Amino acid sequence: MSTPYQKYQELISDHKIHPDPHQKKAIEHLHRLHAAITEKAQSRTSKFWPSWRKKEASHSMKGLYIHGSVGRGKSMLMDLFYDCLPAAVPKKRAHFHEFMISVHDYLHKARQGDEADKAVTAFAKEISEQAKVLCFDEFHVTDIADAMILGRLFGALFARGVVVISTSNWPPCRLYENGLQRERFLPFIDLLKSSMDVLALDGPIDYRLQNMAEADIYFWPLGQNAQRKMDEIFRSLAKGTPPAVEKITVKGRDIHVLAAGKTARFTFAELCEKPHGAEDYLNISNKYDTVLIEKIPKLGYDRRNEAKRFMILIDALYEAQCNLVVSADAPIEKLYTGADHAFEFERTISRIIEMQSEDYRHGNKS
Ligand SMILES: Nc1ncnc2c1ncn2[C@@H]1O[C@H](COP(=O)(O)OP(=O)(O)O)[C@@H](O)[C@H]1O
Ligand SMILES: [Mg+2]
Repeated sequence: MSTPYQKYQELISDHKIHPDPHQKKAIEHLHRLHAAITEKAQSRTSKFWPSWRKKEASHSMKGLYIHGSVGRGKSMLMDLFYDCLPAAVPKKRAHFHEFMISVHDYLHKARQGDEADKAVTAFAKEISEQAKVLCFDEFHVTDIADAMILGRLFGALFARGVVVISTSNWPPCRLYENGLQRERFLPFIDLLKSSMDVLALDGPIDYRLQNMAEADIYFWPLGQNAQRKMDEIFRSLAKGTPPAVEKITVKGRDIHVLAAGKTARFTFAELCEKPHGAEDYLNISNKYDTVLIEKIPKLGYDRRNEAKRFMILIDALYEAQCNLVVSADAPIEKLYTGADHAFEFERTISRIIEMQSEDYRHGNKS
C-alpha cells in the first residue's frame, strides 16, 4: 500500500500535477498522520478498535484542519490521504454540509423534549463505531442550528478517539464569523484548535483556473485565434459528420441548432439574447453531449437578463453532464461585471470550472 507522500510524488512524476512547495508541506503532515494511524492499526489485535476508544481517548492523535482559498489542492490532498488509509482503519469521508444534514435528520428523529444533548452524543457514538477517521470536505458554519450543536458533537467524537481531517476556506478563528450568538460558538473553535493541527494551504496558484487554461476548452480573448480553436474543436468532435441545422421544438417554439452528431454549436446571442427559458435549455442539454457556446460577452448590468439566462443554461448543461466548450470576452473570473447577480454568478463560475475538470469530463455522458 502506498503512502500519501509516495502517491503525491507519483502524480508529479506522471506529470498529472505540478510540484508545489505549499502542498509538499501539507502532504508531509498528512503523511506523518497516516503513518501514526497505520502504526496504531497494526499494533492491535482484533480488539483494537474498542481498546483505542476506551483507553486512549485522553491522549488520542490530533487530526488536521487544512484551510486556504479555492483551488489550492486541499480536497485533492485530503482524498489522497483518505485513499491511502489501510483497510483495517474504518473511515468515512463526507461533504461537511451533507454530513450536517444527516446529523439534523438523526436529531429530528431522536429528539424528545430536552433530550437533544443526549441525541447528539448518541449520534457521535454511532459514527465513532463506524469510523475512526473522519474526513470532512469544505468545513463551513453559517447556520445557528449547526453552530449550537457542533461543540457537543465534536467533543463526543474527539473523546472517542476519532481523528478528524477537514478542509475549509476559512481558518478556525473565522468560522461562523458574524454569526448569531457567536460567543456560544467560541468554545468550539478552541476545541478544534486543541484536537486538530491547523495548517494553511494558501499558495499563489489557483489550480482550477490554471488547469482550465491548460485544458483548452475556455478560450479568450475573442478574436481570430479563439474562432479558429472553436472551429477545430467542432470539426474534431464531429468525427466526419457534416454539420447540419437541426430543429428542436419545445411547446410549439422552434429552436434551430447547428449540430454535428451529438455536438451542438451556438453563439451566446442565439442562446441567451433570445427569450429562451429553462425548458429550452433542458431540451438542448438532453439532446447533445457537447455544447459549444461562442462569443460570450462580459456580462454587466446592461446584460442582466442575458446573464440570468446564461446562469440557467449552465445549470441545465451541468445537471445533464454535458461537455462545455466556450469562447468568451474575459477570463471566467472576470466575466461577470455586474453587481446584482454577483453572488449567484459565483455558482455559475464554479460550475463552469468544474465542467473543465478531468473528473467531470470523464464522468459525463460522452
Ligand atoms: N499541484 C497541482 N498541479 C496541478 N493540478 C492540481 C494541483 N493541485 C491540485 N490540482 C487540481 O486543481 C483542482 C483544484 O484542487 P482542489 O483539491 O479541488 O482544490 P481546493 O479543495 O483547495 O479548492 C483539482 O482539479 C486538482 O486536481
Ligand atoms: Mg475543495
